[in-house]
Amino acid sequence: MTKTAMNRQVLLASRPQGAVTEQNFRIVDTPMPTPADGEVLVKNEWLSLDPYMRGRMSDAKSYVPPAKLDEPMTGQTVGEVLESRDARFAQGDKVLTPLGWQSHGVARASDLTKVDARRVPASYYLGILGMPGMTAWFGLNEIGQPRAGETVLVSAASGAVGSVVGQLAKLKGCRAVGIAGGKAKCDYVTGQLGFDACVDHRGGKLHDDLRAACPNGVDVDFENVGGAVLDIALALMNRHSRIVVCGLIAEYNATEPYGYKRMRSVLVNRIRMQGMIVFDWKDRYGEAIAGLSELVAQGKLKYRESIVDGLDNAPRALIGLLKGENFGKQLVRIA
Ligand SMILES: NC(=O)c1ccc[n+]([C@@H]2O[C@H](COP(=O)([O-])OP(=O)(O)OC[C@H]3O[C@@H](n4cnc5c(N)ncnc54)[C@H](OP(=O)(O)O)[C@@H]3O)[C@@H](O)[C@H]2O)c1
Repeated sequence: MTKTAMNRQVLLASRPQGAVTEQNFRIVDTPMPTPADGEVLVKNEWLSLDPYMRGRMSDAKSYVPPAKLDEPMTGQTVGEVLESRDARFAQGDKVLTPLGWQSHGVARASDLTKVDARRVPASYYLGILGMPGMTAWFGLNEIGQPRAGETVLVSAASGAVGSVVGQLAKLKGCRAVGIAGGKAKCDYVTGQLGFDACVDHRGGKLHDDLRAACPNGVDVDFENVGGAVLDIALALMNRHSRIVVCGLIAEYNATEPYGYKRMRSVLVNRIRMQGMIVFDWKDRYGEAIAGLSELVAQGKLKYRESIVDGLDNAPRALIGLLKGENFGKQLVRIA
């Protein structure tokens, strides 16, 4: 692979008020950076698009600082080392990087992780063997703590995190019930991923459909969506059930917080409701990657990617992700 003359970058140009628009980004070509001692020049091949990016675009207080204006949008990539000034990396190595929305970048070697792309595609390290897969692993095992025979409800069930949660729940002997947008996604969740049932949240009767799909109530709600979906789930929770608050994507573009109506259920059912951020398990990532890799190798975990070609299309793809237009883990293949 040769070093090209320019580095294409997608910058955060302004912070969205409400829904993200393409005007919040600016695409520029900048001179190719050069690595110093201890640094590595990487050609990014895959960019991960994730719902958390909506939060980074805003300057509201969160668990990490916001993305900076006029700098490449933050994000993880997988790419190939073009030039290394650190003994731990060599030209041609595939690496996981925090380089964000740009075609190339220079990173400190200590910020890179080598990935093994011999048995699985390198892009898997942004999805099922990456941050979303680990979120599913730790969120379900450590917070949800499902037992065989229990019912596990999973929203955004066809997506990067939800698809793994439901399949892990099935492997533990649980009844897995998904919530997804539209018939095609619901058919995939039951037909391909093996959930016991999946309810379309766009069908207009989510409460009735969920009640029918969860005849014994819900023991673990793995919450990826929030808003009306969580409010209805609260009505179905069993005594001593658990809610893993993993994501609230229905609220990310909202300008006002959602007004939950069923908090009484938390009290009367002694529900344990806990927020989770995957970084809290940083020291144990290896455990999740080993467990998930084994299940992928055994063909026990199915996985689907939603691929958009070209960095220039990343803004549109992020906007689509926040509206449910992706079908599987959203990636950008960088030309
Ligand atoms: N806490 C953590 O550490 C952590 C880490 C990773 C991800 N997360 C969270 O986990 C959730 C899933 O992330 P992911 O990467 O796996 O994304 P994903 O599920 O692959 O994609 C997002 C999905 O959310 C659903 N959605 C979007 N807007 C919605 C709305 N208004 N109502 C209902 N559903 C909506 C859509 O699916 P449908 O078409 O099926 O509705 C969309 O495809 C997100 O909330 C994310 O922020 C949290």
